Amino acid sequence: MIEFKNIEINYGNFAAIRNLNLEVKEGEFFTLLGPSGCGKTTTLRSLVGFVTPTSGSIFVKGADITNVPVEKREISMVFQNYALFPTMNVYENIAFGLRVKKMTKKQIDDEVRDIADKVDLNDEQLMKKVSELSGGQQQRVAIARALVLKPSILVMDEPLSNLDASLRVQLRKELKRIQKAFGITTIYVTHDQEEALTLSDRIAVFNKGIVEQAGTPYDIYNYSATEFVCNFIGDINKLAQPVLEKINLQSAKPFDLKKAAYVRTERVHTALKDTGKDFIQLKAKVVDIEYFGLYTKYAFDIDGAVIKNIEKEDGMTIYSIGDELDLYLHSSDIMQF
Ligand SMILES: Nc1ncnc2c1ncn2[C@@H]1O[C@H](COP(=O)(O)OP(=O)(O)OP(=O)(O)O)[C@@H](O)[C@H]1O
Ligand SMILES: [Mg+2]
Repeated sequence: MIEFKNIEINYGNFAAIRNLNLEVKEGEFFTLLGPSGCGKTTTLRSLVGFVTPTSGSIFVKGADITNVPVEKREISMVFQNYALFPTMNVYENIAFGLRVKKMTKKQIDDEVRDIADKVDLNDEQLMKKVSELSGGQQQRVAIARALVLKPSILVMDEPLSNLDASLRVQLRKELKRIQKAFGITTIYVTHDQEEALTLSDRIAVFNKGIVEQAGTPYDIYNYSATEFVCNFIGDINKLAQPVLEKINLQSAKPFDLKKAAYVRTERVHTALKDTGKDFIQLKAKVVDIEYFGLYTKYAFDIDGAVIKNIEKEDGMTIYSIGDELDLYLHSSDIMQF
């Protein structure tokens, strides 16, 4: 449905996007994930038409749109700061794009009420000024305003980042529901890995203007293609060289001591889960405890190196600082790149 082909985008001498190749399928919820400054917004802007690529082409449904003006692309955008008209009421904000299209009063009214219903804005809220709404309600207005134009593509640039944590989680569920209900192809930008994992059909992980990996949340997490991806997604331990040496004494296949090695915190066990024979056993001492309620995060010392894990244990804290115990790792959970 959307294809970025060999896209390069320079700002003066600075290469913000270097050789981008991506395909987004019809109806897909596709997320651009990466740290600040990696080129997510720049990529979105090139799709919407605010930025012209230095080279390469963008195709939508097979047609080259690289030089098509913004207003002819039928792509709606939702911004981080909503970009609503603060003095207009909610109804007028949503109706704005329809009035520009010169639809009749009756058509406009039908469309506005229909979309308001779908994003859970009631009649009373429709008559309020935008400035009288909460952040979450304003964000719903911004989404309604984008969807009412029935775009073939919806792009959203960090739409939830101004909201508090619980509202973000709630709206994220609604976003997914609305997106699936409309079957609308969506490109979503975030630097929040949890948001990306929970919302997306597929994710592209950006780093310094390059896509390091594109894939399903499951694949990105479990089969990280690069060192950057495995560090950016999830919580991970870098294994110090002396620890890796110890591991090599017990592992059937030795790890390369010259390269960095990683293991995810939830793959470090304090009890042997099964009797698979390639479990590696390491003597460790508890040096730090962080209680999160749902789980507890422990830091262990292994001959001066630190390894972290998380324990669920029904929300109980089971170890104390100074406890000595054995840690178990599965050699297949150790990642090298
Ligand atoms: N108009 C511009 N002129 C010059 N450089 C720019 C311009 N817009 C962006 N850049 C640079 O291009 C790079 C990518 O910017 P972009 O806004 O795409 O990043 P981002 O991934 O969206 O980051 P954030 O998460 O902070 O929003 C950054 O280094 C930025 O400084
Ligand atoms: Mg940005």
